[in-house]
Amino acid sequence: MKKVLVKDYHHLSLTAFDLFLQEFQENPAGTFGFATGSTPIGFYQRIREDHALHQTDYSKIKTFNLDEYVGLDEQHPQSYHHFMSQQLFNPLGIGKEQVHLPKGNAEDLQQECERYESLLNAHPIDLQILGIGENGHIGFNEPGTSFESGVHVTTLKESTRQANSRFFDSIHQVPTHAITMGIQNILNAKKILVLVSGSSKAAIIKEIFQHPVTTQIPASALNHHSDTTFIIDEEAAMYL
Ligand code: GLP
Repeated sequence: MKKVLVKDYHHLSLTAFDLFLQEFQENPAGTFGFATGSTPIGFYQRIREDHALHQTDYSKIKTFNLDEYVGLDEQHPQSYHHFMSQQLFNPLGIGKEQVHLPKGNAEDLQQECERYESLLNAHPIDLQILGIGENGHIGFNEPGTSFESGVHVTTLKESTRQANSRFFDSIHQVPTHAITMGIQNILNAKKILVLVSGSSKAAIIKEIFQHPVTTQIPASALNHHSDTTFIIDEEAAMYL
């Protein structure tokens, strides 16, 4: 796992954009894995600014997202479908046919997991963007998830629901379940870029780099991946 240390969130977003653009320019018809959460917002803003300036053509890429809440429809303001449409897909003119996310409101969730798994197997991800949860989760793979896991329905930890309740009116509205790529799906990506910012991630980032690999820290699975780069700002890196 490579580490790139940057001063602050602004520089984290710029650095992520530079690495993304390099990959996109080498592979303008590539398959990109995107993440939600607040960390990639500055990076997505940088992609939008660059697109507005240079009309970068994203019409040939394919996109996959890590996860989606169970029970929210696509138009729900806190659904990851909605987040991605607002942040990237609409502003960049990325069409529905290019985009893949698990459907959290599917009638048969098991069948939906199988559908998403086979799409992922048919379209290997060239570059996966990741954030990490305060408990070390990646996607919605909570502590204890097998490193061999495929796409599955997961029960969110109370601490995860609490952390994500800032986006909802109250914790009661935060879904209890999600569909997520499994850790094995994430490890199948050719390259992985992990964005880590702020003091709330300092303790877990220390664990990821200094603790032996363990399913109790899902992000420690990235030790088994051959091309993962962490971009970490000073606040998140304070215990490294
Ligand atoms: C959610 C997402 C993760 C994300 C995490 C961290 O739980 N499922 O993919 O990495 O939040 O979010 P933030 O970047 O807001 O700290």
